[in-house]
Amino acid sequence: MKKISINTEFTVFENIQEIPQKTQELLELAIAIRKKAYAPYSNFRVGAALLLDNGKVVLGSNQENAAYPSGLCAERVAIFQAGALYPEAIIKMIVITAASDQNTTTTPIPPCGACRQSIAEYEIRQNTDIEIYFTGETGDIYKSDSLKNLLPLLFNKNML
Ligand code: THU
Repeated sequence: MKKISINTEFTVFENIQEIPQKTQELLELAIAIRKKAYAPYSNFRVGAALLLDNGKVVLGSNQENAAYPSGLCAERVAIFQAGALYPEAIIKMIVITAASDQNTTTTPIPPCGACRQSIAEYEIRQNTDIEIYFTGETGDIYKSDSLKNLLPLLFNKNML
């Protein structure tokens, strides 16, 4: 018997001014699309902005449904849209922001497990790491250099 430990690493920025200029622009776009999320059931709005290597930006917000599981998270709305519109492009960066209509989110809000698995699929497909930034409405902004920090021991095609 033995134990293993797996380290993951994040960079923590204290405010929007600390992050690179291009990422700031993406965060502003993610905030704008977040505000237009369709979230009448949870009142929790999420926005995602993807930067592709062809310079295109693809946006997404969460889309809810009266049959709750039929809704979809912002990250997957955006990444599936990117996969559909630009199947040849490499996703360089994803910027995520989340806010509640009921209270102020002050901690970084990471992508849910299903979104992590979906992002992993694209990172593996393109064989290039995706930078992931995530934040709440205020407070720190976390950056991961790869999805792998968010989902160690991920299930992937090599296991099929
Ligand atoms: N949500 C996202 O859009 N992304 C996540 O990673 C976590 C959750 C959405 C789904 C649902 O519309 C609302 O937030 C509350 O769970």
